[in-house]
Amino acid sequence: MLVLIHPNEAAVIAEAYGIVRRHMTAKPAITLGLATGGTPVRLYEAMIAGYSRGEIDFARVKTFNLDEYVGLAQDHPQSYYHFMNVHLFNLVNIQRRNIHFLSGLPHDIEKHCEEYEKLIVKAGGIDLQILGIGRDGHIGFNEPSSSLCSRTRDKTLTRETIEDNRRFFTKDEDMPRWALTMGVGTILDSRNILVLATGRAKANAVAAMVEGPLTAMCPASALQMHPRVTLVVDEAAASKLNQDAYYRWMQANDYRMYDLLEKGKRTRRRRA
Ligand code: PGA
Repeated sequence: MLVLIHPNEAAVIAEAYGIVRRHMTAKPAITLGLATGGTPVRLYEAMIAGYSRGEIDFARVKTFNLDEYVGLAQDHPQSYYHFMNVHLFNLVNIQRRNIHFLSGLPHDIEKHCEEYEKLIVKAGGIDLQILGIGRDGHIGFNEPSSSLCSRTRDKTLTRETIEDNRRFFTKDEDMPRWALTMGVGTILDSRNILVLATGRAKANAVAAMVEGPLTAMCPASALQMHPRVTLVVDEAAASKLNQDAYYRWMQANDYRMYDLLEKGKRTRRRRA
């Protein structure tokens, strides 16, 4: 896992946007896996700004969102579909038919989840999955005890997640207890994964994800099994990492290595 530690949220978002932009430029018909939540929304703001500057283009982009609350229709103001419309889709040139979402009101949950998995495969798989992490170590709505091989299915939310997300709801009874979510196994099938975390409240979950044992009690720890994960965190979210000195050392030296390789290429070109 490549761990990039930045002084604050603004620097985290600038780094994350740079990564997304490189992927979108390299593959204009990219398939993105998208997350909802307070952290990704800052990245979407940066992507919208980048789109208006003409740096990125969504004309051929396909998206698959990670999860949706069970019981909410797409036009419900707290549905994740609505959230994505307001925070990204309505503000860029993405084509509606390229947006994929789990339904909060499926006729047959099992069949619907299987179909979602098939749609991802049909689209050629997810090139870049964007993830946040919950305080309890969840990714998507894969709560602790989720199978690390799980596929898209329904999950009961933990009390902690319900508490964390209650702030988005006006009335207590509106906050759903269940969600449909891509499984941990579904997420691990993505070619590249970008995880964002900011703030002290995420420090324990970040430490468990990066340095803890591989365990269903921290579903994000499954990302240790994936060969191309980049984690971008601020100082507060990184504050419980034991090996942070090494990550900073690696971060600094990686840049020096790229400089060195660039210089080498230039020298070789001059000699040729
Ligand atoms: P947050 O949510 O970005 O709102 O903290 C992250 C998550 O629960 O995955």
